[in-house]
Amino acid sequence: MAVAVLNPTNLLKPRAERVIAALDVGTSKVAALIAMADGENPPRVIGCGVRASNGLKRGLVADMGRTETAIRAAMMQAEKAAGLEIESVLVNLSAGGLDSDVTAVEIDIAGHRIAEDDVTALLATGRQRIDAQITRSGRSTLHAEPTLYTIDGLEGVINPRGFHANRLGVDIHVITAATPPCRNLDLAVRNAHLGVEAIVASGVATSASVLNAEERELGVAVVEIGAGVTTVALHCGGMLAGLAAIGMGAADITADIAANFATRRAAAERLKTLHGAATASPRDNHDMIEVPPLDPDDGQDLRRVTKAELIAVIRSRLDKLFGEVAVALNEMGFSGTAGRQVVLTGGGAELRGIADFAQGALARNVRIGRPRGLIGLPEAQSTAAFATLAGLVLHGSQPRLDLARTPLKAFGKGGRQPSDSGSTFARLFQMLRKQI
Ligand SMILES: Nc1ncnc2c1ncn2[C@@H]1O[C@H](COP(=O)(O)OP(=O)(O)OP(=O)(O)O)[C@@H](O)[C@H]1O
Ligand SMILES: [Mg+2]
Repeated sequence: MAVAVLNPTNLLKPRAERVIAALDVGTSKVAALIAMADGENPPRVIGCGVRASNGLKRGLVADMGRTETAIRAAMMQAEKAAGLEIESVLVNLSAGGLDSDVTAVEIDIAGHRIAEDDVTALLATGRQRIDAQITRSGRSTLHAEPTLYTIDGLEGVINPRGFHANRLGVDIHVITAATPPCRNLDLAVRNAHLGVEAIVASGVATSASVLNAEERELGVAVVEIGAGVTTVALHCGGMLAGLAAIGMGAADITADIAANFATRRAAAERLKTLHGAATASPRDNHDMIEVPPLDPDDGQDLRRVTKAELIAVIRSRLDKLFGEVAVALNEMGFSGTAGRQVVLTGGGAELRGIADFAQGALARNVRIGRPRGLIGLPEAQSTAAFATLAGLVLHGSQPRLDLARTPLKAFGKGGRQPSDSGSTFARLFQMLRKQI
C-alpha cells in the first residue's frame, strides 16, 4: 500500500518570512527575543526583553507565580519593541534529566529500488518505535531527528533513495526529558498567556548560535555555564552526539564569595563580575578590594581583602565545576584527536581568564562562544549569557525534519514490522568518529 503523504524533502523547503519568538527561562534571568526569518538569510531581530528571574532553582521552575511574572514582563518588553503580539514561543529546558540516545529501526525492502514511500514507511516505523518507548518510560520526547541511513548493513548513508536493497534502516537521534519539568515549564509559559511551540533542549539551542559547521564536523563540546546549571553538549560528524547537565553554575561562585567574605549576595556578585578572575597574577597579592559588611547598619567598617584571596575562592569552585565537566566529557567518549575543542558559553563564560583556566583543567583547546548568526542583536544581548536565546531563534529558523513534531497523520498508515538492528548511541558515535 502506498504511504506517500509525508515527504521529508518538502518539509525541508524554506518557507516565506515568518515571526519566530524565543524565550530563555533561566535561573538568573528570563529573556525574550522576536525575529523575522525566511529560512535562508540570517534572522532579523525586531524585539528583545530581559527580566531578572527568581522563580527557578537549578534550571527548574520552583515558583510558578514568579516565573510567569518574569516571562510576561520579558515578553511584553520584546513585543513592545517589535510592535506585535506573540502567540507562541520556542522555550528552552536546561535541566530535567535530559537524555540523548539513538533509536535504530530497519524495514524489509525485498530487493527493490528505494523510493520515497519506503523512506516514509521507515520513518513511520521509527515514529511508532519512539512512541512505544516513550509510553513505556513515561518520559517526554523533545526531539526525534532522523540522521544517517543503513542499506543492507552499510552504515552512514545520507540519502538512500534510488538504491536497491533488501533492508533499509535509519538511526533516529532522540532527546528526551523527565515529564514533570516539561509540564511545569509549559504551564508557566501558558500561564503567561503564551503558547508553547516547542520545548528545545538548551544544549541544542545554544550550539546553533556558537558553533560553526566545521567544528560540528570535527567534534566539539559546548560547555554552557549558566547561573544554576552547567550543560555539556557534544557534537561529532555534524550532529549532536550527547548531552549532560551538571547542577552547578556561576551562582555557586557568587555564593562561595558571599560565604567566605561574610557579605551579601548582591555585593558578592559585584565583586565577582568587577574584580573576579579565573587566573591570577603576582600583582593580585597587592591589589586590595573593599568588601561591604553583611549588615550595613551594624556600624562595621568596610573590610579589605586582596584580589588574590577573591581569585582563590573563585578558582576553588571552578576546580570542582571543571572536575565534573571532565567526568561528563569522558563518560561521553570525548577523547583522543576527535575531542580537542571546547567552546565555553553561558554567563559564567564571561568571567575573566576562564578560557585559560578551562584549557588547563580540561587539557583541550578552549574558546569563548558568543551568539552569532542573527542580524540586529542588541549589544547588551550579544554576550555569552544570551547564546541560548539567540540559538532558540536560529534553531527555529532552520527547517528540519523532527519526527517528534510530525503529526501522526502525515505518515498515512505507514509503518512496517520493525526489526531491532542492535544499534546504540555508542555505535553511532564510534561510526561518526571513524568518518572524520
Ligand atoms: N562578567 C561576568 N563575570 C563573571 N560572571 C558573570 C559575568 N556575567 C555574567 N556572569 C554570571 O553568569 C550567570 C548568569 O548566566 P546565564 O544568564 O547564562 O544563566 P541563566 O540562563 O539565568 O541560568 P541557567 O542557565 O543556569 O538556568 C550569573 O551567575 C552571573 O553572575
Ligand atoms: Mg541559561
